[in-house]
Amino acid sequence: MKKIMILGASRLQVPAIQEAKRRGLFVIAVDYDKNAEGFSVADKCIDISTIDCEGVYKAALENKPDYIITSTSDMPVRTVAYVREKLNMPLDISYTDSFCATNKAFMRQRFRECGIPIPRFNVIEEEDEFKTLYPTYGDRFIIKPADNAASRGVRLVDIDKGTDPLECYKFSFGRSRTGTVLIEEYMLGPEVSVESFTLNGITDVIAITDKIVTQPPFFVELGHTEQSQLSENIKRQIKDVVKRTLSAVGVINGPSHTELKITTEGPKVVETAARLGGDFITSKLVPLSTGIDMTVCSISLAVGEHVDLTRKYDRGSAIRFIPTTFGIIAGIDNIKNAKKMFGVTEIELYKKIGDRIGGTESSNDRIGHVIATGKDANQAAAICDAAMKTISVEIVSEQ
Ligand SMILES: Nc1ncnc2c1ncn2[C@@H]1O[C@H](COP(=O)(O)OP(=O)(O)O)[C@@H](O)[C@H]1O
Ligand SMILES: [Mg+2]
Repeated sequence: MKKIMILGASRLQVPAIQEAKRRGLFVIAVDYDKNAEGFSVADKCIDISTIDCEGVYKAALENKPDYIITSTSDMPVRTVAYVREKLNMPLDISYTDSFCATNKAFMRQRFRECGIPIPRFNVIEEEDEFKTLYPTYGDRFIIKPADNAASRGVRLVDIDKGTDPLECYKFSFGRSRTGTVLIEEYMLGPEVSVESFTLNGITDVIAITDKIVTQPPFFVELGHTEQSQLSENIKRQIKDVVKRTLSAVGVINGPSHTELKITTEGPKVVETAARLGGDFITSKLVPLSTGIDMTVCSISLAVGEHVDLTRKYDRGSAIRFIPTTFGIIAGIDNIKNAKKMFGVTEIELYKKIGDRIGGTESSNDRIGHVIATGKDANQAAAICDAAMKTISVEIVSEQ
C-alpha cells in the first residue's frame, strides 16, 4: 500500500485526506493540534507542527511516505518543499521559491523584480522606519503582517477618519511571527480570487471568483460568487496577470489561489498562494460551477496520475458567511427552512447556542455559511442571499 503524508489536518484539509483514502492510499496526517478534525479520518496521526521543517523531515524518514503534500495551508508549502528537496522527491516549487509563495515581503519583492502589477509597498522591520515612511503614502494605506493569513493583522489606515497610524502598525506588528510588516498603497476596486492549476510550468485558470469583504478597517471575507461578473476583457487581463504571477513565484506544478484588486490601472495582485484555496472555494464552489474537483486533481498530481482539468459544465455558485459581532449566541432559527430552499446545497454553523463570540477581525470569527448553486452566478448569489435572510441568529450582549 502506498503512503501519503498530508501536512495539515484541519477541517479544510479533510477533503484531501478523504480523497487520498478513497484511492486506497495509507494517509499519514500531520498537525500540531491533537484534536484536528482530519485525525479522525487519517490512518496515522502525527502531532507535530507543519511548519517544523526538521520535525516533519524526521517524521518522513521514520514513516517513509511515497508522497508528501499539503492542501489548503500556506506555511506547510515550505515544509513540503524542504522535505521533498532533502529526499530527492519531485518538486512542485523549490524551497527557495516557496518563501515567495508564503511570505508577503519576499513575494512583493519577487513581483517587483518580475514586473508583476502590484501596489507601491515597503517592507518594515522597525517602528522608526514606519514613522519615516508612512507620511509618503498619503491619507489612506494598508498595513499588514508579512506572514499571517485569514486577514489577521491587516488594517486600513485612513487619516481623514482619524485612524492612528502607529496604533495600526503595532496591531499588525503584534500579528506578525517575524516582526516584519508591509505598508502598501491602498488599491481601490472590486476584488477577485483566482483558482488555477499549473502543470509543468503552464497555468490553467479554472475559476475567477468575485469576493465580498467587510467594510474597512478589517477585511474579513463575507462571501464569494462564481464565475466573476466582470467583463470578458477584464477577465482576460486577470488571467494574463495570474499566469505571469505564478511563473514569477516559480510554481512548477499544483493548485494555486491568487487574489487581485481590479484598479483603474488594471488588475493588481494582492497575494498568491501555491496551494488550494480555502474558504470553501476549491472544495465546494469550483466543483459546483465547473465540475472540476481541484482536490482530486492535486491528489492525482501527487501520485503521478493524469490531472483532468476539463470543465464539465458552466454554472454559478456562491457562498455567504454569517458575520459575527460581540456577545453570546442566544438563538439560531430557521436553518431547516433555509436548507430546503431551491438551490441551497449546504448550511453549516461553526458555533452553537451559548457560545461567546468576540471578534470581527478575522475569518475565524465568522459564525457559519450558506452555499448555493444556480444556472449562473446571479442566480446562485440571489439564492444564497435569500437563505441568509431566512436564517436568524440572535446575539445578546454579555451581562
Ligand atoms: N494593498 C491593498 N489594497 C487594498 N486592499 C488590500 C490591500 N492589501 C490587502 N487588502 C485587503 O485585505 C485582504 C487581506 O489581505 P491579504 O494580503 O490577502 O492578507 P491575508 O493573508 O490575511 O489574506 C485582501 O483580501 C484585501 O481585501
Ligand atoms: Mg488573502
